[in-house]
Order: sequence, then structure tokens, then C-alpha cells
Amino acid sequence: MKIGVFDSGVGGLTVLAELKKRLPLHLSYVYLGDTAHVPYGPKSSAQIQKLSLDAVEILKAKKVDALVVACNTAASHAMSQIEARMNPIPVFGVVEPGVVAALDALRDLPKKSPVVVFATKATVRSRAYSLALESRDAGGPIYEQACPLLVPIIEEGWIDHAVLHQTIREYVSPYLTLKPGVALLGCTHYPWIHQAFEKALPGWRVVNSAWAVAHFLEQSGWFQAKVSQSKRSQKSPHIEWIFTDPDAVPEFARKWIQNE
Ligand code: DGL
Repeated sequence: MKIGVFDSGVGGLTVLAELKKRLPLHLSYVYLGDTAHVPYGPKSSAQIQKLSLDAVEILKAKKVDALVVACNTAASHAMSQIEARMNPIPVFGVVEPGVVAALDALRDLPKKSPVVVFATKATVRSRAYSLALESRDAGGPIYEQACPLLVPIIEEGWIDHAVLHQTIREYVSPYLTLKPGVALLGCTHYPWIHQAFEKALPGWRVVNSAWAVAHFLEQSGWFQAKVSQSKRSQKSPHIEWIFTDPDAVPEFARKWIQNE
């Protein structure tokens, strides 16, 4: 069984890492990072839809059995178009799993604790997370914070750099006067800097969409049925890598890929 994983860049690697950790070893993956067009976050909805459809076309041609849209920006602007293009192949997005993870985390906190979604400009503009959280009656106040500088900083490889920590401090500062709640990292690039968020938000529960989507997929009825039928010949997952601009893959991500 072959799973396609799509992101604008190297954010989806965090999803791939979680999938590999949780799903059986004999699965294969095709990873597509649209590094020629990253970041998607500052782009218009129409641009995000076009780029996402071009990208998933490549994965469709690879005959994947399922697609994980490992990019919140694409999932929040182009999910229905991607599903239509991939039909009948099942498509899993990151928004619903992220919402489920945030609601689970809220259950451990006092009633009416806040949720802050940190994401790209486009994801925040779509209100995908706040609408979904409101419709489930999350209870406490919901905020969405765009963090447009984070993806370029991560793609630059500055994942433990003073500039990164200072930038996160700026983005979280409006929420430090609230009682601690759930910080939902609604961008698959951010698990690379999960610990930096935890450091900047003492007492908060930080949840990320990479962990959330892997957990969601593992629990899904589709996956449970499929995996029991698939061949178990491989000892470790086979991964095919596709980057639309291979030269633009940051060094830290290259090193990570080499170890996979
Ligand atoms: N990793 C992506 C996300 O989850 C997109 C980042 C970007 O291209 O701006 O939103």
C-alpha cells in the first residue's frame, strides 16, 4: 500500500515521521514537497488551489492508495478540490485531526480554557480551525494567530536560532495574559519547532497537526480495513522523494532524509 504525502515544502516531513512511527513498516510513501513554490501561506486562495492541484496530480500519477494533505494551508483552502481530483482515492487532511487533538487536550484543562491556533496567514484567513472549534463548542475563547515569518525561518534551517525564539516570543506575547490553554500548531512546519513554542508558552498544552493526523489515520476505519489486506513483504517503509525544486531543500531536512 502506497501513501502520498503532500506539503508546500519540508513541513510535511513532520507528518511523514509520525506516520512512519505509528503505521506498520510495510507501507510505502511518496513524499511531495513543492519547494519551488513554498511558502503557500502568503498566497491567495486561487493560487493555493492551483498549486495544490498541480502537486496532487503528480501523486495521482504515482498511483497512491491514499493521500495525506500534510499542509494546513492547502487543506484549509483546497480540500474539496483535492478530494474531487483524487476521487475515488481517499484524502486525509490535517484540520479535522488537529481540531480533535485540541479538543482532547482541552479535556485535561479547567473549563473555558483558551485555544490559540498558530498558523500561516492563509490558514488563519480561512478560519477553518476557529469555525470547526466553534461548531464543536470548544467552550473557551478561540484565537487564531498568523505567524508569517516562521515558515521562511524554518525553511532557512534556523530551527534553534535566536531569531526564531525572538519571533515566537512576539507571536505568543498577546496570549501570555490569558490563563494557560491549548496552543494548536496549525502548520506542519511548526512541529520542527514544537519545543520552542513550549518554551515560549509555559503551562500551555502544545499540540501539533503532524501527530494529530497520524493518530487520526491510524484510527480510521479505512486504514484499519486496508492495512489488514495489504502485503507485508517489506522490512522498512520505502519512501520516494519528490521536490519540485530539489536545490531549495534546506540542509537540516536533507540530513533528516538521509537518515530515513
Ligand atoms: N506546512 C504548511 C502548512 O501546514 C505550509 C507552509 C507554507 O507553505 O506557508 O500550512
